[in-house]
Amino acid sequence: MLETEHLGVSYGKTPILRDVNISIEQGEIVGIMGKNGVGKTTLVKALIGLLDINEGRVTFDDTVVADATANRESFWRAESFPQEVASTLAGTPISNAPGRLGEFFPLAAELTPDATADQRARAGMGYIPQGRDVFPELTVEENLEMGETINGDAGEFQYDAVYEFFPILEERRTQDAGTLSGGQQQMLAIGRALIGNPDLLLLDEPSEGVQPSIVQDLTRDLEQVNEELGTTILFVEQNLHVVQNLAERCYAIDKGTIVDELGPERLASRDAVTKYLAV
Ligand SMILES: Nc1ncnc2c1ncn2[C@@H]1O[C@H](COP(=O)(O)OP(=O)(O)OP(=O)(O)O)[C@@H](O)[C@H]1O
Ligand SMILES: [Mg+2]
Repeated sequence: MLETEHLGVSYGKTPILRDVNISIEQGEIVGIMGKNGVGKTTLVKALIGLLDINEGRVTFDDTVVADATANRESFWRAESFPQEVASTLAGTPISNAPGRLGEFFPLAAELTPDATADQRARAGMGYIPQGRDVFPELTVEENLEMGETINGDAGEFQYDAVYEFFPILEERRTQDAGTLSGGQQQMLAIGRALIGNPDLLLLDEPSEGVQPSIVQDLTRDLEQVNEELGTTILFVEQNLHVVQNLAERCYAIDKGTIVDELGPERLASRDAVTKYLAV
């Protein structure tokens, strides 16, 4: 249901991700583990559409949502821009070409722009950012309501299901989110993403800032969401417990590229996993 082909992302001229190839099937729980600064957040943001891609493609539910595969250099030159314009635009993904270009250049008119983060959310991608990002001065319930804007086309909002998975959120419904513990705020962030019934949950280090004793509850809750709602789960992590207990299989990322993929057997081996996590 989610696939990247030769995905590459740069910040300015600095390449961060290169040749990332991952594929997630409907209903799976897949992890991507890696140390600090290897590109995990960059990858998640590129998948959800918060960052432009420079190379390759992203496909979600059989729809190409981001595409940079056309040869940019030759495109800008083939369309016979003046030399200085061509070299300025050479690094711009064609899929993000300024809209009016199509009026003048036939090739550009045929290109479909990348889906925005908002469009991807409406198409069923739920996203839980690193560091949770709940609104501390809004109540728990008001925070959950923000999920309606995120997945606005989903139709029915599943407050009952969210409160069933996370009874603490119902108990604390009228309290400010800022008064919750780290673990409870993470549950709230997950609940907010679940309100619109996404097909896919993308989690950026769900264990960060969560007490070790609560991390276990969190992985159990996510497993339950996957089982009962059928939500496909993709998470990035550097927490050994989460990687070993939540992932059905797990990619390892290092220096911006996928370097390994571990199935259940190797995931059970502490040594095999810590190799990609130890600092
Ligand atoms: N906005 C930015 N501009 C330039 N470089 C950036 C930007 N954001 C991140 N980077 C760099 O990109 C690389 C990957 O960062 P990223 O945040 O994706 O890593 P990460 O694996 O999520 O790290 P962490 O485990 O600390 O969350 C790092 O070297 C980082 O310094
Ligand atoms: Mg990160």
